[in-house]
Amino acid sequence: MATFSVVLFIIVTLFIGSSSAKLSTNFYDKTCPKVFSTVKSVVHSAVAKEKRMGASLLRLHFHDCFVQGCDASVLLDDTSSFTGEKTARPNNNSIRGFNVVDNIKSKVEAVCPGVVSCADILAIAARDSVVIVSFCSN
Ligand SMILES: *[C@@H]1O[C@H](CO)[C@@H](O)[C@H](O)[C@H]1NC(C)=O
Repeated sequence: MATFSVVLFIIVTLFIGSSSAKLSTNFYDKTCPKVFSTVKSVVHSAVAKEKRMGASLLRLHFHDCFVQGCDASVLLDDTSSFTGEKTARPNNNSIRGFNVVDNIKSKVEAVCPGVVSCADILAIAARDSVVIVSFCSN
């Protein structure tokens, strides 16, 4: 199951990579050098508290990529005039981990306000989740 998730993640990542040539792993080196350590520590404690959260965060990123790309649209709450992806039938009461993403976002905003996108946070959290559950599965 863990192997399947990793393979799925790689396929999704490759697919995304091929559709956008300007992605870079050092994009935040100067503007938010602590982004990766900040995200990782929140994901680590969330998974330590509840192991299933690792899979949930990967799945959240995966579902975010449906409907016109990985743009964090899955995080949008419904309003009286807008129905988002969060409560769309395939996601309603199914996708989870929003509280962890909110926690990551507030920690990242504390170290570098207004720099890191929610879409990137979802992607980084999914990556860290896969690593953490792969090496801590006993
Ligand atoms: C989503 O779930 C809530 C709570 O169970 C329910 O009230 C609502 O009708 C559901 N929305 C959709 C679009 O299925």
